[in-house]
Amino acid sequence: MNMIPTIQPEALSLHPFTAFDKGWMVLSAGDYKADDWNCMTVSWGFVGTMWNLPVAQTVVRPQRYTREFLDKYDTFTLCAFPDSCRKALQILGSKSGRDGDKVAESGLRPMASTVVAAPSFAEAELVIECRKIFRQPMTPEAMLDPRAVAAYPTRDYHIIYIGEVVAVRRE
Ligand SMILES: Cc1cc2nc3c(=O)[nH]c(=O)nc-3n(C[C@H](O)[C@H](O)[C@H](O)COP(=O)(O)O)c2cc1C
Repeated sequence: MNMIPTIQPEALSLHPFTAFDKGWMVLSAGDYKADDWNCMTVSWGFVGTMWNLPVAQTVVRPQRYTREFLDKYDTFTLCAFPDSCRKALQILGSKSGRDGDKVAESGLRPMASTVVAAPSFAEAELVIECRKIFRQPMTPEAMLDPRAVAAYPTRDYHIIYIGEVVAVRRE
């Protein structure tokens, strides 16, 4: 098991425009100990402050299997990985947990998180553990720019999930 140290959210040093978009993250939701969870690669999201709380936001299209776990359970994690795990993240971001054991195929080793029920991964270099505090489906009326509209040719608008950051582990 990879025992990377826990730090305060305020101590996290992160390049926000590259951590998600270029680095990719793995979003996991569900209950690891109950063996009822799923995960997927995400590249849209951010971390910051809302309601005077340290938060992380991720956006998930309704058809994702991971979305079912996000709705059923209270917690999620966002994990960042070294470049050597890129192939694994491609697998988690192109296959669905509905269709088979993509985590086994990826070779990544899931593990219990420190605070939340959702799992994290032994190979992760950053783990952000979150407790869900906000959920809202995007609506077409809210799209003010054609570049946003263009992301939804089939009208599968993302659902926004914001979680309070309850633990951060960083190598
Ligand atoms: C680099 C990358 C970034 C992605 N970002 C998102 C995202 O932010 N939101 C989303 O809903 N899907 C995103 N996806 C797609 C899901 O990861 C993909 O559909 C995955 O197979 C869903 O798995 P699931 O059905 O097991 O939940 C991304 C895929 C890749 C490869």
